[in-house]
Amino acid sequence: MQIKRLENFQSSDALLLLLREEDCENLSSIPNLNDELRNILSALISRKDFKGKKGSLLRVPLIEGNLYLLGLGKTEKCDVKLIRNSLAWGLRTIGKSRNKNASVILAHLNYDELSFALGEAAGLCSYTFDVYKTKDKDYEPFALTEIYSDVYEPEDFGKGIIFADAQIFSRSIANEPGCSVWPQVMAEKAEALAKEYNLTCEVWDEEKLKAEKMGGILAVGSGSKKPPRLIHLAYTPANPKKKIAFVGKGITFDSGGLNIKPDNYMLTMKGDKTGACNVLGIMKGVAELKPDIEVHGFLACAENMPSGSSYRPDDIIRARNGKTIEINNTDAEGRLVLADALCVASEQKPDAIIDMATLTGACVVALGKSRAGLFVNDDELAGKILASSEKRGEPYWRMPLEDENIAESLKSPFADLINSGPRYGGAIFAALFLKEFVGEKIAWAHMDIAGTDFADKEYGIYPKGATAFGVRTCLDYLLRV
Ligand code: BES
Ligand code: MN
Ligand code: ZN
Repeated sequence: MQIKRLENFQSSDALLLLLREEDCENLSSIPNLNDELRNILSALISRKDFKGKKGSLLRVPLIEGNLYLLGLGKTEKCDVKLIRNSLAWGLRTIGKSRNKNASVILAHLNYDELSFALGEAAGLCSYTFDVYKTKDKDYEPFALTEIYSDVYEPEDFGKGIIFADAQIFSRSIANEPGCSVWPQVMAEKAEALAKEYNLTCEVWDEEKLKAEKMGGILAVGSGSKKPPRLIHLAYTPANPKKKIAFVGKGITFDSGGLNIKPDNYMLTMKGDKTGACNVLGIMKGVAELKPDIEVHGFLACAENMPSGSSYRPDDIIRARNGKTIEINNTDAEGRLVLADALCVASEQKPDAIIDMATLTGACVVALGKSRAGLFVNDDELAGKILASSEKRGEPYWRMPLEDENIAESLKSPFADLINSGPRYGGAIFAALFLKEFVGEKIAWAHMDIAGTDFADKEYGIYPKGATAFGVRTCLDYLLRV
C-alpha cells in the first residue's frame, strides 16, 4: 500500500472521506482539498444531502470512480473506536459495490494511536464468510491503495494488520460448519500453523487422553464418531520475561448430547469452538509479533453428540486432577473439557492463564451480545485485560467469582462436584466450577464469550457470523504484560 500525504488525490475506484458533523460546517479543516472535491462537498453540504451524521454513508458518482462520504457524528463523541468501526464498515460496504480499490482521506483526523486502528480496520474489513457461495458472492476483495493522513505510523499500522489477520484466521475456522471441522481437523489446522511459523505442536488423541486421565474431554467426546483431541501449541523465545497460557473451548458442534438442545437452540452451535479458534488466532498473532514472552495455547476439542456411546446424566467422571464430577446435564459440556485443559495448562506453571469459552447462555442473558463476561481471580490481571479491551474496542464486564450460595450448589451428594446448578447465576456457577481446576496461586482469567462470538447481522468491524471477539484484546495484553 502507498501512503500519501494529502495533496492531489489520485484516482482510485473509490475515495472514502470520513467526516464529523463539525467538519461539514468547516470544510477548511480538511487540508489541501482540491477544487473539484471542495466544490462537490460544499454543494452536498449546503443542500443538506450530507451532514456527517453518525453511520450515514453517501455515494457520489464522479466521472471516474465514486466518492463516499461517511459520517462520524459529533466531534466530542468521536474517538479511535468509532473510527475503527466506521472505517471497517465503510470499506466493507465499498467492497460490496464492486470497487477494486479505495483511498481513504483522514487528513483532518488526529487521534492517538489512529494508525493502529486504521490497520485493524483495513484488515478486518476484508473478510466475509463466502467460501461456500459458488456464485453471487456479495463482496469482491479490493485493495486499500492509499491513506491520506498526517499522523500515519507504518509500524503501528502493521501491528493493526497483524491483529486483524489473527482475528480473521479465527473467524475463518469458527464459521466452518460441523461437517467440515471436527476435533482432528482442528489438530491439523494447529499442526499446519505450527509448521508455517515454527511453533511446537503436540496433539493428544483418544489413546493418549486415556493414558493422561483426561476424563472430562473423553466423556464429552464419547458420543461422537469424531474422537476428541487436546492440542498444545507453544511459542518459546530464548529468554522469556513471562509465561502465559491460553485455553480455548473447542466444541466443534454442541447438540447438547443426550440432554439434547430443543429446536433452534442448536443453530449456531458450530460456533461453540470459538474459544479454541481464538487461541489459534492468538498463536498466529504471537508468531508474527514475536514478543519476549513464552506463550502456550491449549485447545480442548470434542464434539458433543447424542448416541449409544454418549456420556449420560447420572454418570460420574474423573477429571485430570482426580476430582470426580457428577453429570446432571450433558449440555454443560464446555466446563468439562476446560477442566482437563486447565489442569494441563496449570502444570506448565505459567504466570497467568486466560481461558476463552462460549460457555453459558446465562452470560448472554446477563450482558447481551456486545459484552463478554470476565471472571478474574487477580486484580492486576483484571486491570491489564480491561485496559487492553478498552484499547482494542472489545468490551468486557467484570463478573463476581465469589458467591457463597452458588459455591454451595457446586457440591454433589455422590461426587466432589456436579456439572450444573440452579438456573440463576449460571455464568458464575460455570466460572466457579472452572476455578476448581486452576492450579494454586496462578493468576487466572475466564472469558465467557457466549454472547459475543457470533454476529446475527453485520455491524462495525463484524460481518455476519463468527466475530472472533477477544483475539485482539489478548494480543494487546501480551504486548503490555
Ligand atoms: N455452548 C453452550 C452455551 C451457549 C449458549 C453458547 C448460547 C452460545 C450461545 C453451552 O455448552 C451450554 O449449552 N450451556 C448451557 C448450560 C446449562 C445446561 C447449565 C446453557 O447455557 O444453557
Ligand atoms: Mn452445551
Ligand atoms: Zn457448549
